[in-house]
Amino acid sequence: MLYNVFSTEIFIQGCNFTMSLAPWRSAIAHSLHRNRSLVYARYLQLATVRANGRPANRTVVFRGFLEDTNQLKFITDARSEKADEIQQQPWAEVCWYFPNSREQFRLAGSLTLVNNYDISDLQSARIKVWQELSDAARLQFAWPDPGKARIQEAEAFTPPPPDPTQPLPNFCLLLLDPVQVDHLELRGEPQNRRIYHFDENQSWSCAEVNP
Ligand SMILES: Cc1cc2nc3c(=O)[nH]c(=O)nc-3n(C[C@H](O)[C@H](O)[C@H](O)COP(=O)(O)O)c2cc1C
Repeated sequence: MLYNVFSTEIFIQGCNFTMSLAPWRSAIAHSLHRNRSLVYARYLQLATVRANGRPANRTVVFRGFLEDTNQLKFITDARSEKADEIQQQPWAEVCWYFPNSREQFRLAGSLTLVNNYDISDLQSARIKVWQELSDAARLQFAWPDPGKARIQEAEAFTPPPPDPTQPLPNFCLLLLDPVQVDHLELRGEPQNRRIYHFDENQSWSCAEVNP
């Protein structure tokens, strides 16, 4: 069965803008709520493509949605391998499993890396995310280069705390803008699976498919 899903429009009194939420947003919001007791329900796997065409995959922390958009926020280090991969090939997919509700979401889309040199409106979002991090999370961006030969001096990993108001230059905000979302619910006899797709007309459709 294929049916069109109209975006949810939220009108905020006194403001003259309209925010369109993709239809899969309510499913994710529901899953986050049902799994709110599990800190690791905010960990997901992000797959990218290496320069040699092979896949790369790693765990990252979901940091919420960018305000007034359907873009997922993550943070990363400009010195990491994924930063180079994304600059060459922005297409990526995340795989997100919610243990309490036994659901999987696979979100495919393009990534935007917001680095120190970005002069777009996204720079303020990057600074805001930095300011919201814990001291421990911020400190990791002052550690020696990730992936390089291990520095043996322990002091290298206890640097002075970075300025909590101004991001270190290597701190990046990473945004995923999904164009396809595959939602599998293991609960149910039989299981349920829906695929949401963002089409050329810039609208979302949803199809129920076999699990
Ligand atoms: C639970 C957990 C959460 C993590 N969160 C992040 C994260 O939010 N951002 C990030 O860049 N790396 C995170 N990492 C580290 C990555 O999985 C990965 O090891 C690192 O980013 C280097 O990946 P790369 O060489 O592919 O760039 C996390 C690892 C774990 C185990």
